[in-house]
Amino acid sequence: MSYLDQIDKIRIPQHIAVIMDGNGRWAKQRNLDRTFGHKEGVSAVRRIIEAASIAQVSYITLYTFSTENWNRPEEEVKALMSLMIQAVAKETPDLVKNNVRVKVIGDVSRLPEDTKEALQYCLETTAPCTGVTVILALSYSSKWEITEAIKNIAKDVNSKAINIDDINETLIDSYLETKEIPNPDILVRTGGELRISNFLLWQIAYSELYFTDELWPDFNEESFYKAIVDFQSRERRFGKTSEQVSNE
Ligand code: IPE
Ligand code: IPE
Ligand code: MG
Repeated sequence: MSYLDQIDKIRIPQHIAVIMDGNGRWAKQRNLDRTFGHKEGVSAVRRIIEAASIAQVSYITLYTFSTENWNRPEEEVKALMSLMIQAVAKETPDLVKNNVRVKVIGDVSRLPEDTKEALQYCLETTAPCTGVTVILALSYSSKWEITEAIKNIAKDVNSKAINIDDINETLIDSYLETKEIPNPDILVRTGGELRISNFLLWQIAYSELYFTDELWPDFNEESFYKAIVDFQSRERRFGKTSEQVSNE
């Protein structure tokens, strides 16, 4: 039986965040340049967006390029930036056709001008779509995001737009890049590493973590549905006892 058939349709996770790792190793296994792994990674992105639509997941956040990834060899960074332009240009018509809305979180100001333009076109064209929301984390890191939020809160306290006593979790949420996006229910990481790599640290406080050894270019629809089935087997207690949760 396929994993899709095993999904309980009334307990679908609303938001799945993904650390798409393993492109380089996928290429290395085939004696190819790392860039080939990234290209193949784009096909996996396409598959997973489609799977999210089928499973009726509302939000999917994809860790596409981290703040720390700027430290990779210049050639690789360049290749990733031009791949982004190609992918966005090629995929935008299908995204619109499939009613997919694209959003970006991260320090976009660091991206090259042509990458920014390609992204802007995709964001504007897909803005009216009402199906799955795909959030690309680009030039993103959680510590950068939290630092920016702290700076902006401090500015607003200084200018008396808010009082110190107004600062609570909800207010902090509203200063993050992810404002208006619910917290992830599951965080999936492919590629076998057991770490978070500076991704959504605040937002995953109570997410279920799912790690798989599969390399990102090998991750397919069934791998995605399998993660959802695994999620549905877990009891989320949010600090309560199991008895309390089952009586709710
Ligand atoms: C993830 O794959 C993609 C990005 C970080 C841009 P990697 O490029 O990190 O692949 P590995 O981890 O070296 O295999
Ligand atoms: C995390 O992968 C970033 C993305 C998937 C975009 P990395 O490959 O950069 O993470 P580390 O450095 O192994 O932790
Ligand atoms: Mg990696």
